[in-house]
Amino acid sequence: MYRYIELLETGKKFMKMMNKYRCAIMEVETKLKVLNAEFSLQYDRNPFESIESRLKSPESIMEKLVRRGYELHEEDLERTIEENLYDVAGIRVVCAFQEDIYHLSDLLIEQDDIQLIRTKDYIKNPKPNGYRSLHQILEVPVFLKEGKTFVKVEVQFRTIAMDFWASVDHKLRYKKDVKNEEVITERLRVCADAITSLDEEMQNIRNMIEA
Ligand code: GTP
Ligand code: MG
Repeated sequence: MYRYIELLETGKKFMKMMNKYRCAIMEVETKLKVLNAEFSLQYDRNPFESIESRLKSPESIMEKLVRRGYELHEEDLERTIEENLYDVAGIRVVCAFQEDIYHLSDLLIEQDDIQLIRTKDYIKNPKPNGYRSLHQILEVPVFLKEGKTFVKVEVQFRTIAMDFWASVDHKLRYKKDVKNEEVITERLRVCADAITSLDEEMQNIRNMIEA
């Protein structure tokens, strides 16, 4: 009996933690939407095409903790997650142009209640396989009944072209028994380069039109 009560308590604590991440997503999403609205008034265009968010599932959270070899104890599971996993709350922002990515990200980061924890710029430094995106870990305050806590959110900024590549790459890589893996990886990298040239050319065209 006592064990069941304990398990229920653990479940409740876990749900409370997940709710904090859910609130943090809502906050950052709202901030981005406010910027989008302001941008459209000022420049007559939207800096992003779409925004998507997801909460990592309990299964993926546990899988990642196990994969990384953390010791798991019921009593401080939330702390292990909060200190070590930065992508429980994830937002993906897809922009038409590369410049908009940096513009939008700068406007978000300079807000005084947001703290930038880490940047991985896979646009300036693409992964060897050709993957491109700007990844940022932010920390935002979430105001709950018990007070203010800081919650981490991973934001991925991409252009439509980068998103196209990443989606197809994801589909292909998650298929099993890929034959000729090296050749396929190389060909995907060639596609990534072609996409980068397109992005650059589209940006140049916009610069020409706006000059
Ligand atoms: P995690 O903490 O496991 O997410 O790894 P990490 O800290 O090294 O993060 P990284 O910045 O490398 O990538 C995190 C996320 O970026 C992934 O969950 C994917 O959404 C995306 N991503 C990274 N590399 C690739 C890639 O090669 N292809 C695709 N399609 N997506 C990628
Ligand atoms: Mg991840």
